[in-house]
Amino acid sequence: MERPWFETIFDERYPELFGPVEGNAEEEVEDLLGFLRLPPGSAVEDLGCGRGRHAVPLARRGFKVTGVDISETMLRMASSRAEREGVRVEWVQEDMRKFRRLGAFDLALSLFTSFGYFSDAENQKVLDNIGDSLRKDGVLLLDLRNAGKGLSRLEDMDKIVKVPAGSLRMSVRFDRRAMRAKAEHTLTRPDGIRISSAFDVRVYSMEELQEMIRKAGMKVRDFYGSLSGKPFTDESTRMVTVAERGS
Ligand SMILES: C[S@@+](CC[C@H](N)C(=O)[O-])C[C@H]1O[C@@H](n2cnc3c(N)ncnc32)[C@H](O)[C@@H]1O
Repeated sequence: MERPWFETIFDERYPELFGPVEGNAEEEVEDLLGFLRLPPGSAVEDLGCGRGRHAVPLARRGFKVTGVDISETMLRMASSRAEREGVRVEWVQEDMRKFRRLGAFDLALSLFTSFGYFSDAENQKVLDNIGDSLRKDGVLLLDLRNAGKGLSRLEDMDKIVKVPAGSLRMSVRFDRRAMRAKAEHTLTRPDGIRISSAFDVRVYSMEELQEMIRKAGMKVRDFYGSLSGKPFTDESTRMVTVAERGS
């Protein structure tokens, strides 16, 4: 049986294909800490932690970090980096549809569109697991792309940018019936060799997210336009949901 896309694209090619659109993770960590005001030493779960771009800087600041990811390759990159930097992170290779640790975390992070990969029922399961894994009053920060800059528009996108490794073509198509965004990145290296990867992510409206988060035992505090808590507008590039687990 063919493996689903999310089990195959997060490999050695990922940094070349998606690195160019990543933000500066050190700054992002500063932003979200300034915004959330997390008590020192808090327990943080980074779900879909990838190569530890945020998990490592958080651990360096003294937080007790658990990085969860399904990809062995990404986790290998993450743990080598943590070793190089001499910080301790607990790395767990697990599917976010399964990972659950009752009441263990003060903060759950899902960063850089690491949510919405599955069916609606499975995406709900991911939120249920997060809700169960948070302590009372624990916080979820869910960082998603503001698809089409304003969900009502859902404009397709196609652009080519020059990156250090060659030229990168990025296209996003919206399947308006399924409300899914299909993104494809193709890198053409100077020697003509091409590599490419495609995402397929469910785009949720604020109302849908609010309801799913409620079902998972949490309550949305607000939606923001950045990790530093700027107000959300139709023009925001990100849609950052902050929710709290009920007491
Ligand atoms: C878009 S990347 C973001 C990684 C990281 N948060 C960052 O900002 O660099 C999404 C991550 O989710 C992981 N992932 C995909 N499907 C998963 C699953 N079913 N369970 C756990 N992690 C998964 C991928 O391996 C990948 O590392």
